[in-house]
Formats: sequence, C-alpha cells, structure tokens
Amino acid sequence: MEWPLDGFFCQFFCYYLGEKGRWEIPRVAISRFKQAIDPRAARQGFAPGHKNEGYMANRVVIGSQWGDEGKAKVVDFLTLDADIIVRFQGGANAGHTVEVGDQKFVFHLIPSGIMHQDKICVIGNGVVLDPIQTLAEIADLHTKGINPEGRLFIANNAHVVLPYHSTLDKAKEKKAGKAAIGTTGRGIGPCYSDKVNRIGVRVGDLMDERELRPRVEAMAKVHNEEFTVMYDVPAIDPEVVIKDYLELGQKIKPFVTDVSEMLYKAVKAGKRLVFEGAQGTILDVDQGTYPFVTSSNTVAGYASCGAGVGPTALDEVWGVVKAYTTRVGNGPFPTELLDETGDTLRKIGNEYGATTGRNRRCGWFDAPVVRKAAVVNGLTHLAITKLDVLDTFDTVKICTHYECDGEKLDFIPNQLSKVGRCTPVYEEMPGWKCDTTKCRSYDELPENAKKYLQKMAELVDVKIGMISIGAKRDQSIVIDKGLAKGLGL
Ligand code: GDP
Ligand code: IMO
Ligand code: MG
Repeated sequence: MEWPLDGFFCQFFCYYLGEKGRWEIPRVAISRFKQAIDPRAARQGFAPGHKNEGYMANRVVIGSQWGDEGKAKVVDFLTLDADIIVRFQGGANAGHTVEVGDQKFVFHLIPSGIMHQDKICVIGNGVVLDPIQTLAEIADLHTKGINPEGRLFIANNAHVVLPYHSTLDKAKEKKAGKAAIGTTGRGIGPCYSDKVNRIGVRVGDLMDERELRPRVEAMAKVHNEEFTVMYDVPAIDPEVVIKDYLELGQKIKPFVTDVSEMLYKAVKAGKRLVFEGAQGTILDVDQGTYPFVTSSNTVAGYASCGAGVGPTALDEVWGVVKAYTTRVGNGPFPTELLDETGDTLRKIGNEYGATTGRNRRCGWFDAPVVRKAAVVNGLTHLAITKLDVLDTFDTVKICTHYECDGEKLDFIPNQLSKVGRCTPVYEEMPGWKCDTTKCRSYDELPENAKKYLQKMAELVDVKIGMISIGAKRDQSIVIDKGLAKGLGL
C-alpha cells in the first residue's frame, strides 16, 4: 500500500528537481499535495496544477439545446484562461460567431480561439474536415490580420468531406420531401456514414497518392451505382477527385499532424485546454430528437474520442444555454412560439442561421431540454447567453416540465412520437425591462433578471459559471471562482 504522504514526498522531490530542473511556484506545490492525497487527481498523472478547484482546469464547452447557443462567444472568452482550443466533432455545418472590437468572424471549422494570436488551435480526429472550407477560413483570417500559421493543427486521422458528400446530402434531402431533416447540406451525414462504413478518406491520405488512390477508387465503386440509380446525380470520377485532393493536401500539409500525441504532451506539460463543441445536445445522434439530429455525438464525452485525449484530462463541462430556445431545421420543438412573441425573439436576438441564413425557430426556455443536457454531459457549469435579448419583455415564460399522456416529465423523451405528445407547462415571471448589456458584474443585474437566472439554474440543478449579455468579449459576467482566479479578476 502506498501512503499518501510517501506519494507526496516523492512527488514533492520530483517536482523540485523537475524535468526542466527549475523551481516552480508554490501554487503548484499545493496542487501536487492535493494530487497526492486525492486518488482521482493522482490517478490522472498529469502536470502539477492540473487539478486545483477549477483553477487551471481543462474545460469542455458544449451546446445544451439545439445549437447556436453562443458557444463561440463563450469559447472565445474562456480562451483568455487557456492555451489550446480543440474542435472535436461536427464539420462545416457549424457556424460559430465571434465578435471582437469591430470585427466579426463566422467560423465553420477553425476553433473560435484563433482570434487570440498567442493561442494554439486544433482540429481533432472527430471532425469531418472540408479542406476547401478550411483554406477559405485561413485566407479570410489573413485578410483580417490574423495569422494562423504555426498555431493551427489538423489531425491526420480526421475524415475528409469530399464534394459528392454534399451532393448526396442535398439529393437525399430532396428525395425525402416532407420527411427531410433540414440539414445544412454540407455533406456531414454522408461523410460520417462513409467513416463508419470504413470507406472514407482521411486527412493524412491527401498527402500520399498510394493511400488516396485505392480509397477513392473503392469509394467511387460503392457510391456510383447509388448516385446514378437512386439519386440521379453525376457519378464520381475518381481521377478528378484524386488530382484535386492531392493538390489540396499539399496546401493543408503544413497544418497536419498527430493531434493526439501533441495534446498528450501538452496536457502533461500543464497546458490548459478548451474543447469547443459544435451543434447541441438535442442534435446528438444518440441523445437528440432522432432522426432530426446531426450525424455526430455532440456531447461532452465525445471530446475525449474526437480529440484523442483520455477522459481523465477533462475537468469541467460547461453547458452553453441560451436564455430562451432556438432550433434550425426540422423536428420537434415543444416550446416553439409560432406567434408574434416568437418573431420578436428572432428579431431582437438576430436569430438567423450563421451557416445557411435560415430563420431560426424561437421559443421559451425549456428546462426538460437543458436538464437532459445536464445529465448526459455531466455539466459542472452553465454559461447562460443572450440574457439581454429578453430585456424588453414585460413577462418571460419558463417551461418547468412537460405533461405527456397524463404523466409529468422532467426530461425531453427519446421517442419522437412521445415528444410530439408533450405539452410544456410554464411558469411566468416578471421581466426586468431595462438594459443589461452594460452590466459587468452579477450585482449590477436587475433583481428580476437575477431571479430568472436563479430559476434556470435551480430547475436544471447546475451552477452558473458565466453570463453573457452581448456578443462582444467584454459583455461577459464571470461567476465561477476558478475562472475568475484564472483571469486574474
Ligand atoms: P454558436 O453556434 O453556438 O457558436 O452560436 P452562433 O454563433 O451560431 O449564434 C449565436 C449568435 O448570438 C451570434 O451571432 C453571436 O454573436 C450572438 N451572441 C452570443 N452571445 C450573445 C449575447 O449574450 N447576447 C447577444 N445579443 N448576442 C450574443
Ligand atoms: P452550431 O455549431 C444549429 C442542424 C441542421 C439540421 C440538423 C442536421 O453552429 O451550433 P447536418 O447538416 O448536421 O446534417 O444537419 O442539424 N444543425 C445545426 N443547427 N447549429 C448548428 O451548429 C448545427 N449544425 C447542424 O439545421 O436540423
Ligand atoms: Mg451556430
């Protein structure tokens, strides 16, 4: 049996001799001590300071509703207290908006942390990467004076979205008619489907014709019959794909690496990570309103799989929650407002898709949705966004639970037909009728806004970590002590 204090002295000794042979700050010693007496922290075996009451934590940021919760704004803000930002799933179906100063960026693939010129950004193996879109985003960054070279890394085992993925996506939607999912048409489903079918092309293949050629030829064989017979779309010419994608491969080559190995070393060295989720929990292929979902796992657990990092490296899970609810595309939405109030939310909240420009459907805050997100993601914090959008409302409604077949339901059900039979039960609260966009601390918020926030947190049983009251970086209120300490507040 190992005595905790033996562990402590041993680690203390190692820490002072240190791999780099230099003295480190006392905070690290305290953290090492904690690791020595806390079996969970010790088991991690990661760098000193890794586990310290939320301070220096690795944070997973996910969407808790149907996407577009303001994840990018939150990630951009949390990047102030991080070294590396990692996208781990989804593809260019995501539209992540960051506003800094007068500049506005919409990222589809590149992590939102790239705006911070001293931070590293990573696209993990769980992402489906469209090289054309990636290069366009890189070029756009350059025109805006941001240089991603040397600090953007792409996993060589991420799958590649090829042009026919998008063709197939659109053709399938067209054929589905009324049953269409309302996808973004970015080829996400067909690309993930090739991945699990084991006929996909990976980023590393684009750098070597010996890898690429047999894969594209095999893929064309599988798909061409389907294309021409079932969907009436042009067959794939493998030679064209091979030529074009070898060229694209050369262009993205400087960014491509073994991300898993890189992140392992970074975590070991005590670097702090932010994992940037895309879409939202109720669009998760397992946990969402299937089949009206995306084709990846959007939940926090996938941060580990999609970045190639062990789950012990994940400390906190921040669920981004809009103060009301939106959804783009088809599928059930129990608190949807198909009236003037819904239009008002859309107008004030500027709820138009960042990827497709479609109207976002709008509705009141839905606790059974976010409660489900709290459970399946293991949320440790809420990041509540767009509170300011409710500033002018006389009253605000909050759905506390559903009634379904005579039963009270606290969670959105998994069966589609059951979701359709749910009636939301609301509690009405007085509005605050004043401008929150200039508030910079919790105390400055109006009392009724505080009550609304507390009600949200209480209903889903997760504490609030931060509140966003505008799209700009400084329109953020930090509540979490660990984050505040990390930011030097
Ligand atoms: P994401 O996909 O979750 O990153 O969210 P989107 O970028 O698709 O949509 C969120 C939109 O709300 C963007 O236009 C953001 O600039 C904006 N936004 C983020 N936080 C706030 C906020 O607190 N208040 C307001 N008014 N807008 C916000
Ligand atoms: P971010 O990361 C909102 C939706 C689509 C459609 C369904 C399936 O910006 O929050 P797909 O193209 O993925 O096969 O479409 O998922 N969807 C999103 N909705 N935000 C997103 O991303 C989305 N990505 C996909 O509208 O209903
Ligand atoms: Mg979005």
